[in-house]
Amino acid sequence: MSVFRPLSKVLAVVAVLFASAAAAVPSLVPVPVQVVPQPGEFVLDAATPLIFDKRDAFAANYLRDLLNRTRGIALAKRHGAPAITLRRDPSVSGKEAYRLDVAPSGATIRASDSAGMFYGAITFWQLATQTPGKANRVTIPSVGIIDGPRFAWRGLLLDSVRHFQSVAFIQSFLDAMAREKLNVLQWHLTDDQGWRLEIRKYPRLTQIGGWRVPAGEAAQHDIDPKTGKPRLYGGFYTQGQVREIVAYAAARHITIVPEIEMPGHAQAAIVAYPWLGSVSDAPTQVSSDWGVFPYLYNVDDRTFRFLEDVLTETMALFPGAYIHVGGDEAVKDQWKANPAIQAKMHALGLANEDALQSWFIARIGTFLKAHGRRLIGWDEILQGGVPPDATITSWRGIDGAITAAKDGHDTVLSPAPVLYLDNRQVEGAGEPSGRGAVVPLSNVYDFDLAPASLSDAERAHIIGVQANIWTEHIREPDNVAYAAFPRAAALAELGWSPAATHDRAGFLARMPAELDRYAALGLPHSAHLDGDPPNPASSTMRDSHELTLCSNAIALSIEGPAPLTGKRPVYLHDIMNPCWIWPKADLDGVAQLSLSAGQLPFNFQIGADLAKVAKRPAATPDGEFEVHIDTCDGEKIATIAMPHPAPNAGLVTVRGPIAAPSGAHDLCLMFTTPRLEPYWALHTIELGQE
Ligand code: ACM
Repeated sequence: MSVFRPLSKVLAVVAVLFASAAAAVPSLVPVPVQVVPQPGEFVLDAATPLIFDKRDAFAANYLRDLLNRTRGIALAKRHGAPAITLRRDPSVSGKEAYRLDVAPSGATIRASDSAGMFYGAITFWQLATQTPGKANRVTIPSVGIIDGPRFAWRGLLLDSVRHFQSVAFIQSFLDAMAREKLNVLQWHLTDDQGWRLEIRKYPRLTQIGGWRVPAGEAAQHDIDPKTGKPRLYGGFYTQGQVREIVAYAAARHITIVPEIEMPGHAQAAIVAYPWLGSVSDAPTQVSSDWGVFPYLYNVDDRTFRFLEDVLTETMALFPGAYIHVGGDEAVKDQWKANPAIQAKMHALGLANEDALQSWFIARIGTFLKAHGRRLIGWDEILQGGVPPDATITSWRGIDGAITAAKDGHDTVLSPAPVLYLDNRQVEGAGEPSGRGAVVPLSNVYDFDLAPASLSDAERAHIIGVQANIWTEHIREPDNVAYAAFPRAAALAELGWSPAATHDRAGFLARMPAELDRYAALGLPHSAHLDGDPPNPASSTMRDSHELTLCSNAIALSIEGPAPLTGKRPVYLHDIMNPCWIWPKADLDGVAQLSLSAGQLPFNFQIGADLAKVAKRPAATPDGEFEVHIDTCDGEKIATIAMPHPAPNAGLVTVRGPIAAPSGAHDLCLMFTTPRLEPYWALHTIELGQE
């Protein structure tokens, strides 16, 4: 995709129009380039004709379906006036651009391409849903709208590896994206924890590489009667399903960019075909650990033939220009330790393993280019040099994007943590699991897409913006949607709307109508717009999410592995240190405490940091829960020996005395650590009187 900013000249005008018409700006998300209120209104009801050419039937039917589902108004294709008319108009310049004129005599959507027509239809639907609920008749104030995107790449990443989503879910997710005018789905299909794309030439990738035993004792005890072994979790998308999803996306003007990871994040492939790996003792099972694994593809010609075969089948399924080859987090230890790889590196005249990775990626880039495709990779592919026409997804902040743009590479801004939507969106109890950092809606909205350190020419290499939904900690597809929305609306506005329209208060004022649309369409979403944590419901009880972590090394809001069926508890904690602070607990008359806690597997690949996991000697086999007063080194005022829970126990509840002084004191709550795993995580604590 090339950079597309045909509307930059009107930006100065936009702010003025908004200022003068502020009260009349309708709740449209993303906000259009130009919205000019006009006198009068258009009346929409079941008799309103919908007029369109055959080539715009999809956009027209999409509009009809949305109006029907949200307003209960079923339009028909008939002639008459005042009508809604979809009209091709070559004078509407720019890809994806449209004009929408609403007047008492009719509403007309004009565009020169089908994407623009589709987006015009979406905007008309948004005008018709300024308030929620079904209606026989909707009046839409007259308005003239000129619109088109700021960036060509307005993306989300969906991780279907760490947890698997159904075809139906992905289709509903694509619909939700399309309604925000998002147009790229980077589909994360291969990783250490699974291979999800059917490759006909290498069936073991999905037969073996697509399945794992989930972490935790409960899963180990969940025996599949067919095999007599622990039940496997996983799945994959057949090529037929992929074609269906790609076509579904294309109809909604979304390009799916498949991500096939290399040279790292390759463990599932190496389990399926051990000759792909860089060590003689290849892993034999797909892992259920999260984190960064050491397993890399080797650099043999046979491995490149494998990768080229995989990419050939991938390209046949995904017609878009870009193929994402990952390239992130490839720890080079195995390449350093392998004599054959070292020999090849030296024979190629390469100075080190970064240069070897660079050679690896360049070789793949050449292959893709020969097949008319473009390579895109995470910013680590800059290390050791990157092929000239590679595009960079900058995730480790925006430094990668700045380096890339200065070197003349196109780049997509996708930095952690602000555009990592697996981070929680609000503090407090009752939220779905995710990473521990909190990224509220406003933070996404306020992300700056125009780094000051770049010249205008360099900035033109920023082709767009993308938010990522990694799913290590998002097992339920509904929670994927919840994590995405409404933050994807903020992302969409960043990617679509001109910088001059950026106005957080205005955006937040337009969002309630958007949440109403989500609700009407049954899209799971967060209703938090301001990011303020709710006050704890009780003065004597705290959920872990209402406590402060003693440390913040790897903070997660993590779902327990049990029970196997039904709702599972979610714990806020630092996996490196099971310790929480209850600030200023009211201890007057307190003599008892009651605790609910669960046991978690330590399924994290954290390399050398393993030595830094807190160790607190235990006096009993399953350890103790301790309360210290004022500080974590303060006097111990409660000790409760933890029981040995049943394998499928979600939570255990224990009680015990606490020798509390009166007044308000900080309490430091911690578990001793008889072993690395399973380890205890606090769910709730309640203080009681005698
Ligand atoms: C990434 O988050 N490893 C791209």
